[in-house]
Amino acid sequence: MDNKLVREDPLTVGSVAKRCGVKVSTLHFYESKGLIKSTRNIGNQRRYNRQVLRRVSLIKAAQKMGITLSEIKEKLDTLNGKTAPNQEDWQRLSMHWKDSLNERIQSMQKLRDYLSGCIGCGCLSMDACPLYNENDKLATIGNGAVLIDNLAVK
Ligand code: FES
Repeated sequence: MDNKLVREDPLTVGSVAKRCGVKVSTLHFYESKGLIKSTRNIGNQRRYNRQVLRRVSLIKAAQKMGITLSEIKEKLDTLNGKTAPNQEDWQRLSMHWKDSLNERIQSMQKLRDYLSGCIGCGCLSMDACPLYNENDKLATIGNGAVLIDNLAVK
């Protein structure tokens, strides 16, 4: 059998899962979120082209950095129809995510410092504790974790 033909054969979901070190269900999930695409064979089984291996590798790397799947999809959608990121794409995406990661690290460090006074305290003082939010008084500032969000922008 010609090796070139074998290398271009589409991959089964099990093969992709094994080679990427993820569960089959993870690939199904990625596909449901539009992060990867498959075709179906005549038996209605998923088949992937080999470029999906790079794509899944990128998704895994980004997830390890704490990048959300929606952020990953947003960036993968900038690949202008390419199914797999090349080296230049990866450099561009990783630089963007590095900045995002640095911002989150700084935010978490500030939060850690912020919380250090609370550890072992338990006062939940409305005046002194940075965590206490009786009757959702912080709702006037914004939605969600406004103290943490405010840390991120400072
Ligand atoms: S619990 Fe006392 S300052 Fe936060």
